[in-house]
Amino acid sequence: MKAADFGDDFVWGIAIAAAQNEGAADLDGKGPSIWDAFARRSGKIKRGAGPNPGCDFYHRYAEDIALVKTLGFDTFRFSISWPRLLPEGTGKINEAGINFYHRVIDCCLENGLVPYVTLYHWDLPEALENEGGWAAYSVNGAFNTFVSLCAQTYGDKVKNWIILNEPFGFTSLGYMLGIHAPGQTGVTSFFTAVHHAAIAQADGGRIIRAEVQNAHIGTTFSCSQVFPHTDADNDHLAAYRMDILLNRMFVEPLLGMGYPGMDWEVMEKFAISHSTWRHTEKLAFDFDFIGLQNYFPLTVKYNAFVPVVQAWEVKAKSRLKPHTAMGWEVNPDSFYAIIKQFAAYPGIPKLYITENGAAYADKLKDGKVDDQERIRYFELYLGALLKAKQEGLNIAGYMAWTLMDNFEWAEGYQTRFGLVYTDFKTQQRIIKSSGYWWQDFLRK
Ligand code: NOJ
Repeated sequence: MKAADFGDDFVWGIAIAAAQNEGAADLDGKGPSIWDAFARRSGKIKRGAGPNPGCDFYHRYAEDIALVKTLGFDTFRFSISWPRLLPEGTGKINEAGINFYHRVIDCCLENGLVPYVTLYHWDLPEALENEGGWAAYSVNGAFNTFVSLCAQTYGDKVKNWIILNEPFGFTSLGYMLGIHAPGQTGVTSFFTAVHHAAIAQADGGRIIRAEVQNAHIGTTFSCSQVFPHTDADNDHLAAYRMDILLNRMFVEPLLGMGYPGMDWEVMEKFAISHSTWRHTEKLAFDFDFIGLQNYFPLTVKYNAFVPVVQAWEVKAKSRLKPHTAMGWEVNPDSFYAIIKQFAAYPGIPKLYITENGAAYADKLKDGKVDDQERIRYFELYLGALLKAKQEGLNIAGYMAWTLMDNFEWAEGYQTRFGLVYTDFKTQQRIIKSSGYWWQDFLRK
């Protein structure tokens, strides 16, 4: 298998995110994000870590972007930190932040890399969290101001825009389970945040369409194939509900289908309490592409004690496969299956894989990192992707997660996903064997 098998116009990229890479969390006028605040709360992030120092991408972006080019990718996906541009969430603009992303974009273009800019990769300005964050309706107006600012500032140079990164990720982990920033818990804050994020993804698309000429607009979703643990009706019900949350919750309103699961009392209740829940048009937008991000499948079993979904994740013995350092099952067949599930929506014009990758306990030995498991992972997942593409599914590109080991949210710095090893003490970058594997794979 070679990159050429995917076709000449297939996009090959690598992705990073501001809060995970930039560091410089309180430099040059940047305001605090919910992750900076969360990191100050003891016990929330492993080993008391936080977005500082990250990979110091803020100062080392030129070297890192050159590395993207060295590895052979043609596209670089990064996000803009909202509180770096607007320290208070709205209002006062931070010129140093504006200039930083001009430099990053220019550097991509000078290296012949196509920038794909994510507008929201989980670093909400803390000032907005003080008003309720994604669980408060005011977030929508503030988000629109931020999107407009980005469009007007960078729209001449950037044509590829991604509105949200994994809305199910940040609403479930941050507003229901409380294990990610801002640490809110409960069903009400979750569904309210879901609704505001669903509005934001459509509004964001409309703003970019109106303000950027020839824009190519997408948004991303996390996705996981869901298996019932047994053939019992209850387990099927558990899997059905989990699939609604994990895979259907954000894409269906975007496609103009409204929210899924209206036959499920919990969803119905929210539809009644939120006057705009059934405003199908407001939630819809004609995207140019959808970005899928897949890491693992899920097996669930019915459990009456679990609130809302009554579903509980279990390890599937019958399908026991190797796991990554995150404890995630390596299962390329489920990658193929979930791509097919999304491709079956008639309203999706084309798909990109905007994230996929694996964490392993990489060790630096004699100046090298020989991460053979990660190479194997990419071989398997790219094989599954090629199969889907050869069957005629409209898949236009793949972006690996991630360039270098970085701040993995609540996991801190222990879990390494990079193709490049980061020595967090010296900030030295060392290309892993997987990085060289990619270089070879992409060689023309
Ligand atoms: C998805 C998120 O978008 C990204 O920020 C994270 O690092 C990866 N998953 C791996 O967990």
